[in-house]
Amino acid sequence: MQKADKGVFTRDWPQYRDNLKAYYDRRRLSDPFQDGDGGCDPEKIRSLIRSHHVAGDWRFEIIEHLRRAMADRKVLELGCGYGYWTYHLADVAERVLATDISEPGLANARLVVDASNVEFNLQDASDVSDLTGSFDAVVSVNMINHFPREVALATLQRINARLGAGGRVFLAGEHYYGWRRMMYRKPGAGDDFVSARADSDAGAVEIVDDPYEPDDIRRLIGARASDVFIGDCLGYWWVRYTVCE
Ligand SMILES: C[S@@+](CC[C@H](N)C(=O)[O-])C[C@H]1O[C@@H](n2cnc3c(N)ncnc32)[C@H](O)[C@@H]1O
Repeated sequence: MQKADKGVFTRDWPQYRDNLKAYYDRRRLSDPFQDGDGGCDPEKIRSLIRSHHVAGDWRFEIIEHLRRAMADRKVLELGCGYGYWTYHLADVAERVLATDISEPGLANARLVVDASNVEFNLQDASDVSDLTGSFDAVVSVNMINHFPREVALATLQRINARLGAGGRVFLAGEHYYGWRRMMYRKPGAGDDFVSARADSDAGAVEIVDDPYEPDDIRRLIGARASDVFIGDCLGYWWVRYTVCE
């Protein structure tokens, strides 16, 4: 994988947030999800998603854990992308507001997940304090690991405050084991790792790509987490906790 440029990396939020959004705005769907013209084929996506929810698949445990944790909950999903986890949530949650900062991702998610208890909205996950509606759970997969660490921490504090005691949180990220050696430190990136992603029409783009180990996860969820469960499978780490006072 190429390194995108030799300059200083910026973690200056909101500039970094806008760069990350631009990357996802221009990111191409991977081949199995495309129709003949390179667009989104929702039925191909749905059948791939369903094929992962079978005993024996390495994603089965995390999917089952998510579904049990979110049964009958009013879920706010942050960074839903094309709706992979939204699809798994739709038939167990009471309702889901699935949000993302990128409209192209949301457009795909609207095609993929067609359920009367699911709505979609543009939302910057780093500040949910002004979001209207009542929720008793938050789900976010594969997003917080692309936020600079101090933004990830502040985001979690706002999520905890927004949910209040008793709210349930489920976070996950990919291990990217094969990519670990593609992650590097860079001037301006502080303690964060970055990687150059080439899967965008913008060419190679550098984004924060932090590997999370159990100690990092405990630091991230902080002191307001009770009933903590940290899970691990071939491709993902995940954590479920309940917000306490
Ligand atoms: C790696 S994708 C994960 C998508 C989906 N959760 C999944 O696991 O398939 C990260 C997603 O986070 C979204 N995202 C990035 N920054 C965001 C922000 N500040 N607020 C909300 N969503 C954001 C991106 O647009 C993208 O859809």
